[in-house]
Amino acid sequence: MTSDAPVRVALLGCGTVGSEVVRLLEDQAGDLTARVGAPVELAGVAVRRPHRHPELNPDLVTTDASALVTRDDVDVVVEVVGGIEPARTLLLQAIKSGKSVVTANKALLAEDGATLAEAADAAGVDLYYEASVAGAIPLLRPLRESLAGDRITRVAGIVNGTTNFILSAMSASGAGYAEALEEATRLGYAEADPTADVDGYDAASKAAILATIAFHTRVTAADVHCEGIRRVTAADIAAARGLGCAIKLLAICERVPGSGGAPESVSARVYPAMIPLSHPLAGVDGAFNAVFVEADAAGQLMFYGQGAGGAPTASAVLGDLVAVARNRVAGGRGPRESAYASLPVLPIGDVHTRYHVSLEVADRAGVLSAVAGEFARRGVSIAAVRQTGGREDGDVPEAEAAEEELAARLVVVTHGAPDSALHATVEALAGLDVVRGVESVLRVEGLGRPVSTLGVAG
Ligand code: HSE
Repeated sequence: MTSDAPVRVALLGCGTVGSEVVRLLEDQAGDLTARVGAPVELAGVAVRRPHRHPELNPDLVTTDASALVTRDDVDVVVEVVGGIEPARTLLLQAIKSGKSVVTANKALLAEDGATLAEAADAAGVDLYYEASVAGAIPLLRPLRESLAGDRITRVAGIVNGTTNFILSAMSASGAGYAEALEEATRLGYAEADPTADVDGYDAASKAAILATIAFHTRVTAADVHCEGIRRVTAADIAAARGLGCAIKLLAICERVPGSGGAPESVSARVYPAMIPLSHPLAGVDGAFNAVFVEADAAGQLMFYGQGAGGAPTASAVLGDLVAVARNRVAGGRGPRESAYASLPVLPIGDVHTRYHVSLEVADRAGVLSAVAGEFARRGVSIAAVRQTGGREDGDVPEAEAAEEELAARLVVVTHGAPDSALHATVEALAGLDVVRGVESVLRVEGLGRPVSTLGVAG
């Protein structure tokens, strides 16, 4: 299907991503026309400070975004500004005026995607947002369209490049968190205020979007349990390596089967976790993203690529723009997400996880039993225990007098148990006389790999 009438595009924001969108629209105008079946033209660009954009045609530039998104000669609004407001108001204005929307705004979608989706349904327009999760990686469309006939059971991955860069740097050089963050900032991977990345909020927004699409259930950022990487230490990384694991900040979206009268539910969570080095996600280093998808019929799938940056993100935006423009030319809408399943979201305390706990303990009789007792009391089964340091076999009996001064490190890896039971166990351990300190607590995720792939004696 072709049309002589152009598809006219309003662009909101012309920063790192927006300027690449403009470049691609100009550089590939001929190809885009052929692929869409109609010319795709820039109708206007809304920016806050026009003087910072001498590269743009001044006739296209405006500071009045609200007027631009409702203009009669605009068909599609592309939003790459980010943040909740004014983006939400502008996109709702656009949708209500009959414009289709392409957005990269993960925070808005994770907070209030339902309002946008409902407005788009009511207006009969498209709402596309491939660029909101994992930059250039085609992920949302495969989940929503290619796997629409399957039953997705898990979507788990590395969806934040900044934190993956930091954890990779810590692993490669033995550096601590602060040093690795400094390097990430110096090289431009971390922003001046890295809070959204290092505290996991960016990944949590992406997890909400992924879970919503994968499980046909509305999941918001507030539903996602979120822990960042600030407390990951060089010792944690070394401990992980000792177990044959890497530490990654994971976004995990899982379908949790119902049991004992409880209905099927979903879990969406973000935290740093140990994963076996044999898992494909463990080899994803630097600022790259990768997402591992499991579905009943398809089995295991892996999506890998650049999750941030101007050109990679613009690639995803242009892909959406072409799809939306094609739909316009054909006179219809594309497939959209649905939330018909409405599954409950499981609180983190009820999610089964596994812990790796490293304790500094007194090296004397009964310590192991006291520690093991706290796990047993809460129904947590231990998978492996390893002790290092402490008294050597050859120590002379005189050393007995100084026994209280001797310390050892006890590492415990658990089997799966409710996170609340694991959390309570760690709190109780911290209060034991024989425990001098809880050095590290990290979750362990097999992600479909059997426990035996961890380098610990079971
Ligand atoms: N700041 C994000 C990251 C990219 O580090 O991956 C945008 O979501």
